Amino acid sequence: MSAALDQSLQGDLSAMRDAGTLKTFRHITGPMDTQVSMAEKSGPVLVLSSNNYLGLADHPQVVAAGKKALDEFGAGTASVRFICGTFSIHEEIERTLAQLSHTEAALTYVSCWTANTGLMPAIAGEQDALVSDELNHASLIDGCRASKAKRLVYKHSDMADLEAKFQAIKGARRIFVVTDGVFSMEGDIAKLPEIIVLAKKHGASIILDDSHGTGVMGKHGRGTAEHYGVEGQIDIITGTLGKALGGAAGGYVAGSKTLIDYLSQVSRPQLFSNALPATIAASAGKAIEILNKEPQRVARLHEITRKLRDGLKNLGFEPLEGESAIVPIIVGDTAFAIKMSQMLLAEGIFVTGFGYPVVPQGTARLRIQACATLTDDQITFALRTFERVGEQAGVIGRVRQAASA
Ligand SMILES: Cc1ncc(COP(=O)(O)O)c(C=O)c1O
Repeated sequence: MSAALDQSLQGDLSAMRDAGTLKTFRHITGPMDTQVSMAEKSGPVLVLSSNNYLGLADHPQVVAAGKKALDEFGAGTASVRFICGTFSIHEEIERTLAQLSHTEAALTYVSCWTANTGLMPAIAGEQDALVSDELNHASLIDGCRASKAKRLVYKHSDMADLEAKFQAIKGARRIFVVTDGVFSMEGDIAKLPEIIVLAKKHGASIILDDSHGTGVMGKHGRGTAEHYGVEGQIDIITGTLGKALGGAAGGYVAGSKTLIDYLSQVSRPQLFSNALPATIAASAGKAIEILNKEPQRVARLHEITRKLRDGLKNLGFEPLEGESAIVPIIVGDTAFAIKMSQMLLAEGIFVTGFGYPVVPQGTARLRIQACATLTDDQITFALRTFERVGEQAGVIGRVRQAASA
């Protein structure tokens, strides 16, 4: 690499370091679980920062299914799907994902990022319009940007603004409203019933990314649509296998058979990139089987989330309201969020501090995430530690002062 480029990049890195916004990678030395060992910290560390919502990432059956598929299918397809890269296990997991999503069919990708950025440009062209929530995940934003369609952004979960954006679209061939199910940085959920009504009124199709909703929302963990009782009413659902459904990687689009047939023909990652590894397909399939057999896991996740949320509120924190397993505490400044995250780690708790550009300037936060396999003792330990660190960092005091002013 040229010395000039290196020097220029070093300058950008130094600026991040000076601003206290440089992200630090933590090195976990074993499987993902509620408790892990970390290279940077002696002793066990409690994880409240993972999307491993159902605690399936190291479940023995999920691991065994992946190993078996490795023996059966080898490392991978060494090919794109249509060239010679479709295994029987791909068809199996796609049938399972369609059932889970209440759709006719599904198509896997190597990640949900790839699914989202492979979806929008395929189905929305110059004559079409994409209407997208302003707080959508970056992969939905990039998917919209990669499309040649007219793009409109509505204020977060603001149905009047969504309606206004629909009114502003004149003569579009296809209209799509694009939303996260659970918003990843806020933990709140899309107003699906209202979106469905508006979409019907304006002839729009709904694209729902339920990456943080699947396995979490609804009594059976079938996602945000189940939570609202509107299963089967969402045109297109995208999701990840890298969070509740095993936690490895992988993504999918679920929808009508026609949509999936069409994407198989034209979605660029399907044409120019390898298929999902068989190990991941098998592990995710097993994770979904466990989800279907053990709804008590979802119930426990809901209980733990409530305990964490209520416990934090009782201590004087002000987590953002929401019903998902994501409990964010806004602390304002990016450097401060990172500092608090370091203070928590020193006490044995892993919670990441998120700042700009992942979230808007001035809204840096600690994002706490629940997991179904957290014990009551672990929750008690977490809340005690949050109280201590919150007081040391002045966060709890600040909130209490504001409350009593
Ligand atoms: C809402 C949402 N969509 C998509 C993704 C990307 O998922 P993957 O890791 O499978 O690419 C994420 C990951 O953070 C997400 O939160």
